[in-house]
Amino acid sequence: MLDGVDLEGKKVLLRTDLNLPMRDGEPQKSLRFKRYVETIEELSEKGARTMILSHQGRPGRKDFVSLRAHRELIEEETGLEINFLQAFMGEKLGERLDALDNGGVVLMENVRLLSEELKNFSPEKHGKDLYVREMAKKFDLYINDAFSVAHRSQASVVGFPQHLESFKGPVMKEEIENCSKIREEFDNGVLVLGGEKPSDLVGIIQANIGSVEKILLGGIPGELGLIIKGYGLGKKEKWIRERDLDSAEEEFRDLLEQWPGKIETPVDLATEEGNQKVNEVQGMTWDIGEETADKYAEIISGSDAVLMKGPMGAFEKHAEGTEKILDAISKNNGLTVLGGGHTSSLVKEFGYSLDDFSHVSIAGGAFVKYVSGQNLPGLEAIDN
Ligand code: 3PG
Repeated sequence: MLDGVDLEGKKVLLRTDLNLPMRDGEPQKSLRFKRYVETIEELSEKGARTMILSHQGRPGRKDFVSLRAHRELIEEETGLEINFLQAFMGEKLGERLDALDNGGVVLMENVRLLSEELKNFSPEKHGKDLYVREMAKKFDLYINDAFSVAHRSQASVVGFPQHLESFKGPVMKEEIENCSKIREEFDNGVLVLGGEKPSDLVGIIQANIGSVEKILLGGIPGELGLIIKGYGLGKKEKWIRERDLDSAEEEFRDLLEQWPGKIETPVDLATEEGNQKVNEVQGMTWDIGEETADKYAEIISGSDAVLMKGPMGAFEKHAEGTEKILDAISKNNGLTVLGGGHTSSLVKEFGYSLDDFSHVSIAGGAFVKYVSGQNLPGLEAIDN
């Protein structure tokens, strides 16, 4: 998939997205992981000297951890020796790179440890970041394969094309091709939107609300919808607000007020006290409730096209709602699309095959932005 690029002996900076679901503190080999392993293998087979940049989690969250354990997973999966490097600049970086044989691979530490990384700056501004300038000097080319983070204008995503000859990686290219088809073909269907980042969903809702049949909200977006409708969700409302997961409250309020018949919120939730109607909830919530899952599954079964992004709840321990929805989607013979780092990893976990769906994207926020017609800074940085 990297045809036409001469990689033999080249020092390649590869931006992947190894932001993996964590279980008991350990990263899990998700679909996303498997796809990136293929890219790493391809680069190695073609004789590139590769250093991999990735993030994991965000500062302040439980999944913001070192990539050391990821190194072991890649080694296990590829059988290649994968070295680990903590330095993002300086002599050590250069020495390590010079010492790499053709086909050699090094994984660098979580790039979000760098304070510049997370700033939402233009490519030109990120191109001036010290680490970007210094690191770029050491490489021959930059490959961005991280489609799932291409919606962020962050240093490792947009800064390097300012200095290095840059290419889209195989995962990136495949996702663009599939998501472009969805952009054209998805019409008058159902959007099932969950996960934990309501702010990532505003664009897709705004872009599609006029043309879709229904939007079914679960996960944190569903709960935010309930809070806006006046259901105090007790402990869970506090939890959501403490984590700033309510940052899109105003946009969600406008949408719910304007389109009351189109946007569905849960009628019941699975909580620490059992299955409860939404007006009874005070304790912690885990998932959509049984009645909601049945209702959503019925709507999905009767639709010609379904796009799901994000699980319906805390699926690691409370998977019932998400499982019921995935089951209904897998049985639908129309256009069925799944997006979201977590959702895609659930396909295998719940015993489905990728062929049970029209497309399974490894991306979440980037996927919804792209299919709703928005530009992605990471792609523009390369195209420009
Ligand atoms: C994702 O999993 O959606 C990407 O890795 C981006 O992560 P972020 O939302 O923390 O930027």
